[in-house]
Amino acid sequence: MSDTSVSRYPTLLRLSHWMMALVIIGLIISGLYMADLPRDAANRSDFYHWHKSFGALMMLAIFIRLFIRVRSLVPAPPAVLKPWERKASHAGHHSLYLLMLLVPASGWLMSATYNGSPGINFFWTTLPGLFPHSESLFQLGKALHAPLGYAIAAVVVVHIAAVIKHRFFDKPEADVLPRMLP
Ligand code: HEM
Ligand code: HEM
Repeated sequence: MSDTSVSRYPTLLRLSHWMMALVIIGLIISGLYMADLPRDAANRSDFYHWHKSFGALMMLAIFIRLFIRVRSLVPAPPAVLKPWERKASHAGHHSLYLLMLLVPASGWLMSATYNGSPGINFFWTTLPGLFPHSESLFQLGKALHAPLGYAIAAVVVVHIAAVIKHRFFDKPEADVLPRMLP
């Protein structure tokens, strides 16, 4: 819920926003890099291991963040924003939350179901994949993960551009960055 009397996001949401932004940007870059590596590249399995570990961590983190978010009072959009800007920011934030669920879920599906998958690499251990090995589920996860990964990258670029616009090109009251700073 949003409220005009609240001036900043609650501490847990501010901290989780920046920690998750850092990890998700790292996952987009590592994903694009490793997907193009030749199968026999020496660093390939390390990249896959860390990408899956941090990706699975993000999947757990987004559930916790959404749980905190729905129970929190957050600042209402600045009154100076035009109606289309409010709609666009609402749609953008909802898309980011949805993609933060769908991107790791599709990666998980692909990694859990390939023939011979031992489960999901998770730092020093392996998590149960929760899905049976299946060529069709693997192909589905693979077909979804790359386009969803590109989609979150695109929405993040627009998100950052919007923050820059409100800070440097609009009235000072439209600046939303201080509401999210740690
Ligand atoms: C927020 C979380 C995640 C983001 C933003 C992300 C992003 C990406 C991106 C952009 C790619 C490159 C796609 C391509 O060009 O083909 C990729 C590849 C990949 N991701 Fe993720 N990913 C996430 C989570 C996960 C998780 C949880 C897993 C598995 C447990 C996973 C497994 C993989 C695998 C195996 C590939 C390589 C696919 C291939 O070789 O074609 N990802 N990821
Ligand atoms: C992977 C990267 C990122 C993701 C997934 C992400 C996601 C989100 C989401 C979902 C919200 C809505 C918060 C809520 O209402 O609960 C938000 C707000 C915000 N984000 Fe990001 N973000 C990312 C990167 C960034 C970066 C790099 C910046 C800085 C330029 C930034 C600045 C902000 C600000 C200032 C807000 C508050 C907007 C407002 O008060 O209306 N974000 N972000």
